[in-house]
Amino acid sequence: MYSDDEIKERLGKYGAVYLPSDVKESVDDILGNELKKERLDDFFKVLKKYKNIVKQLKNTKLSPNLTVLLYGPPGTGKTSLTRAYSKKYNIPICVVEADRLVSPLLGDTIKNIRNVVELSADIARENNAFVLFFDEIDAIGSERSNIHEVGEIKRAVISFLQVIDKINYEGVPLAIFGATNHQNQLDSAIWRRFTFHLKFNFPNYDLRKRIIASFINQIKKAKIGVDDSILTKLNEEYNEIQIIIKNLEIKLGHKISEFENDLIQKEIKKKVKNNGLLKLTHGYSGSDIERGTRVALFKAIHTELLTFEVFYDSLKLVGGTANHVERQNTLSNSRTVNNITKSFNSRSKDFPKPPEI
Ligand SMILES: Nc1ncnc2c1ncn2[C@@H]1O[C@H](COP(=O)(O)OP(=O)(O)OP(=O)(O)O)[C@@H](O)[C@H]1O
Ligand SMILES: [Mg+2]
Repeated sequence: MYSDDEIKERLGKYGAVYLPSDVKESVDDILGNELKKERLDDFFKVLKKYKNIVKQLKNTKLSPNLTVLLYGPPGTGKTSLTRAYSKKYNIPICVVEADRLVSPLLGDTIKNIRNVVELSADIARENNAFVLFFDEIDAIGSERSNIHEVGEIKRAVISFLQVIDKINYEGVPLAIFGATNHQNQLDSAIWRRFTFHLKFNFPNYDLRKRIIASFINQIKKAKIGVDDSILTKLNEEYNEIQIIIKNLEIKLGHKISEFENDLIQKEIKKKVKNNGLLKLTHGYSGSDIERGTRVALFKAIHTELLTFEVFYDSLKLVGGTANHVERQNTLSNSRTVNNITKSFNSRSKDFPKPPEI
């Protein structure tokens, strides 16, 4: 059995090690994403009793592979949700940053990948379960990596696949997570190695309403005054938007989503006259809303009251992730938040579209 300190010492150079007691967030702090949560809950339950399950399925070749790929735009909860589940199931997790693995020196990337997986596998065997989370997994084996020689990129991918296969084959209770914002650049062999593919999205109107309300409640809990008009206006705007969407759906004869096309956005721009928080935050991630709230707090702490104007201006100041990407893309100014969202969510056309989870 490895002690907490030993785990940190062994893996610290590859990334951040979180023991269950280090993790602040809980599963309920990441709102929405219900189906993904259900999958992750099943997954962690299996991880907890993996040794027995492997025994039970020994002669079937059906032992579950403990691999999950999380993909989608930045700030949508991929890392926090995984960390929160590790805490819930009392399993330590190491979040490995790609740039600590990928080295311009020939052979070093491969050595690093093998080391981090084998050290984690040892801990998993001894301590009954461990989670290894590869952030920006697309950097292994993509041209974004520091490796400049094509042959070396290929060898890094192959080595990664080999160690994953070995761990799966041996039935080690090591869960391997990969996360990426660049799923289009992810090597297809890596993509296929993961049993679960869970797609994260920018939050829609419903979820943004809940996220905004939850941050406002946290401010109230901290005993900082909050102008009632924030939640009143939020609810009014939400109801107004619901009616617009419903009418559009009746007209079209089918359900539509905020990010599918620009119809809803155009209609809302036309019909919702006031500056509302939901209209403003189209294309914002949960993390953008959190950042906006933090900015607002700098003001509210002095004035002892968070007003609608301060909150609105702070959210506007931080901007939404989808808009940032749009602005960076100077070549084409016709790209909309929805197009950006689609590109975040798409896979290359060579791959079948994964089921929505
Ligand atoms: N659905 C949500 N509900 C509440 N808060 C959220 C939600 N999504 C994101 N957040 C907030 O954003 C923070 C950052 O999210 P996180 O770092 O997990 O995103 P990520 O998808 O891993 O991003 P990246 O791809 O950049 O690594 C969370 O800790 C949380 O405070
Ligand atoms: Mg992350």
